[in-house]
Amino acid sequence: MKLAILSRNTALYSTQRLVDAARERGHSVRVLDPLRCYLRIAPNAFEMHYKGRVLSGLDAVIPRIGTSVTFYGTAVLRQLEMMDCFTPNPSDAILRSRDKLRAHQMLAAQGLGLPTTVVGDNPDDTDDLMTMLGKAPHVIKLNEGTQGNGVILAESASASRSVIEAFRGLYANFLVQEFIGEAKGADLRCFVVGGKVVAAMRRKAKKGEFRSNLHRGGTAAAVSLTKAETETAIRAAKVMGLNVAGVDLLRSRRGPLVLEVNSSPGLEGIEGATGLDVAGAIVDYVAYRHARRKRAQANSPVNKRVKPA
Ligand SMILES: Nc1ncnc2c1ncn2[C@@H]1O[C@H](COP(=O)(O)OP(=O)(O)O)[C@@H](O)[C@H]1O
Ligand SMILES: [Mg+2]
Repeated sequence: MKLAILSRNTALYSTQRLVDAARERGHSVRVLDPLRCYLRIAPNAFEMHYKGRVLSGLDAVIPRIGTSVTFYGTAVLRQLEMMDCFTPNPSDAILRSRDKLRAHQMLAAQGLGLPTTVVGDNPDDTDDLMTMLGKAPHVIKLNEGTQGNGVILAESASASRSVIEAFRGLYANFLVQEFIGEAKGADLRCFVVGGKVVAAMRRKAKKGEFRSNLHRGGTAAAVSLTKAETETAIRAAKVMGLNVAGVDLLRSRRGPLVLEVNSSPGLEGIEGATGLDVAGAIVDYVAYRHARRKRAQANSPVNKRVKPA
């Protein structure tokens, strides 16, 4: 298979691991910086160039699109999809999951557990909005934040109101959630590939912190998931339309609650904590889907030679 990894940085652990896993399996692989891909869009004539050369003949791409380049990165990925290149995570699915509000609406619509969430625009509605949510503590988070940035714990109603006013003043999009205290600063990162959980870890926030992100100093260890947790993670990835996903869950009194579904989950933390070859699992899945597509194309009536009558 001719594989590309769409990534801004070749030196990143995750990128490097995917390249190594692909090479070990005998695939041809290259890393493409999405910001160096440029596109020509014309009816039935999509074209892409990379650093001055035509890019064509790719079988599959693994997108690793950082949040700072979501718009351009997903445009490049969409172009590759239109050029018949397979991606486990389609551009639309990435956009869906990056928007936490939209993702929560879609997950809740399918009956998946999540922290109760409220959203409002007008300051005149703040009091009623907080009544809709229930008593503090609340968690207020930026709609498109990552790595724990812009996730704030407001311990009282007045703190909650102040943060909401401050975010509004900055014209930021944000959500307000019930705080799941019984999770005790820990969450579960479930790594889903092709509808299976291939690895899972429990992340624990450092002392004095409620966010368990490894970027915020959290620690991680392998964990075995309950059946309900495994099913929730698989369903959440499916609802988002992602075949490679890092699904974050909180353990609560009412069962697993989905916090977010990551479309470019990091490999370093999960491989380090579990000792599992997650990069290999991703490459194997992409190769399997590519082979299946090739078979389907070969068997399609369009490609079968019609016998003369
Ligand atoms: N409603 C909540 N209740 C308790 N802890 C939460 C809640 N929301 C987030 N957290 C903690 O904060 C961390 C970061 O929140 P998350 O929504 O995943 O944002 P990010 O995209 O920045 O990682 C989570 O991993 C979890 O530990
Ligand atoms: Mg998170």
